Amino acid sequence: MEFFQPSCVLGCPTPTHPVPLLIRNARLLTLAGPTGPRRGKELAELGILPQGDVLVSDGKITAVGPRVEGPADAEIIEAQGRVLLPGFVDCHTHACWAGDRLAEWDLKLRGASFQEILKQGGGIHATVKAVREATQKQLAASLRDRLGAMLCEGTTTVEVKSGYGLNTETEMKMLRAIRRAASEWPGTVVATALLGHAFEGDLDDYARMVVKDMLPEVSREFPDITVDAYCEEGAWSVDACVKLFEKARKHHPIRVHSDQFTSLGMIPEAVRLHARSVDHLEAATKKDLIALAPSPTIGVILPCTALHTDQQFMRARLFLDQGGALALATNCNPGTSPSHSLPLAIALAVRFCGLTPAEAILAATVNAAAALGLADRGTIAAGQRADLLLLRHKDERQLAYELGGNPVELVIVGGNVVR
Ligand code: NIG
Repeated sequence: MEFFQPSCVLGCPTPTHPVPLLIRNARLLTLAGPTGPRRGKELAELGILPQGDVLVSDGKITAVGPRVEGPADAEIIEAQGRVLLPGFVDCHTHACWAGDRLAEWDLKLRGASFQEILKQGGGIHATVKAVREATQKQLAASLRDRLGAMLCEGTTTVEVKSGYGLNTETEMKMLRAIRRAASEWPGTVVATALLGHAFEGDLDDYARMVVKDMLPEVSREFPDITVDAYCEEGAWSVDACVKLFEKARKHHPIRVHSDQFTSLGMIPEAVRLHARSVDHLEAATKKDLIALAPSPTIGVILPCTALHTDQQFMRARLFLDQGGALALATNCNPGTSPSHSLPLAIALAVRFCGLTPAEAILAATVNAAAALGLADRGTIAAGQRADLLLLRHKDERQLAYELGGNPVELVIVGGNVVR
């Protein structure tokens, strides 16, 4: 499987802006650098042009430089020295769901753990019940609302997983709802089939059903989709994940949730199976992080989850210092991360995971795009998709510094000003 191979990229056919767009006098974070996920020093290089212009036409960036002359009919946006950067890529979300988890949150506030709630049939299972009861149209409508909120805070590409179906019919309903919501949103949605999120009955029997029935059905309608699983005590075992991935990887890229609460030995298997990413990693051992770092598999941190659950953040600094390729995402979901805000994820990654503001910005753009197999976004360069954010600020460190505000002034998606 090629590293840069877009998989299940959905979206609506965006009408192109009628005239070229010229953004003038911005502090440009071009994020220029080698193709592919950044590591080491390259993960800290923002490619800053202190005062620069960007010309956009037909949905793409056509010129970047200290002074760009646009055609006479170009619409001009005067940035007045504020920061212009690529649109955020949220590479890990479970943003398609129904119902809410407020009752279990009350329990959690009184001391119950995520896994205790899961064992009592709550957690993921509570959302499974609500998703089964919802229609495809209702699922699409609620996802569409969340996508709208994400766009306001600068997310222009978002990965959305299935995984709350736990039977073939409902997984397909979720994937179709994701496709439908994507067709009504100006940004790009990348759908992922989370086929091993939880299970009902006996895990071995359930996992066999997934490999035999669910995977082929998903493959038929979504032939290039990425396949994902949640390896954790009380969820899928390493053995069940490996059996699913051995089969799925013949036709699909694979990703895995690993080491969220417990280290079960999934990381070496993910590397062996060429997983595109290993996500969570809060409980990963030093040895596993050191082994993961030089591999092509990207580590994805989800700091909003630790904030909402147990305050156990991934030791990302160790991974970065070993040369690991790191991406950052919200993990937006009703149970462990009720947040759609990448600016918040950036602020937390800097405070609790040891990233610098520059590293966090690259992790939420160029490296997050790489985790989705996308090479056409995440940087500001001629030929790239024109997904751009103009901040309210003249210093990009404000992105990490500000807590709970919205630093985004203007959002451009595929060359159109959408906010
Ligand atoms: O990534 N870890 C597994 N899945 C989600 C939780 C989903 C839920 O609780 O609904 C997560 O944290």
